[in-house]
Amino acid sequence: MAGITKDQLLELLNKDLALEYTAIVQYTQHQGVLKGAMYQNIQKELIIHAQEELQHATIIVAQIDYLGGVPTVDVPPAKISEDNVIMLQQDLAGENDAIARYIARIKQAEELNLYHLAHQLRNILVMEQEHAMDLEQALGR
Ligand SMILES: [Fe+2]
Ligand SMILES: [Fe+2]
Repeated sequence: MAGITKDQLLELLNKDLALEYTAIVQYTQHQGVLKGAMYQNIQKELIIHAQEELQHATIIVAQIDYLGGVPTVDVPPAKISEDNVIMLQQDLAGENDAIARYIARIKQAEELNLYHLAHQLRNILVMEQEHAMDLEQALGR
């Protein structure tokens, strides 16, 4: 069975990186337009999420560069809404997508014996789970 190549992994990491940029933009916009006192706590959390997504992007840039790739500057479009609940659902969907992608990416990194990369991705995965939990709590799930 043919496994993943380093070039394929680099391409996937660049997609992850692009979506980290999108998350920064989306959280920054959403925290600014969330309305109402009930949403004050989650609004503060979204500001922290945006900053943590920048940390993730910075880590992935370093890893792509180390592996001989060129980090992307693509930013796929963010999702917006005028409705608080829809915004938080959009953010949660993004986190659940990130969790699934990073679980796959950790397996792929280990398949190529890139344990240092897998370790960094695990740290990111833990933070994405925390983000998802914050959003689920705010959505009353
Ligand atoms: Fe992230
Ligand atoms: Fe996140």
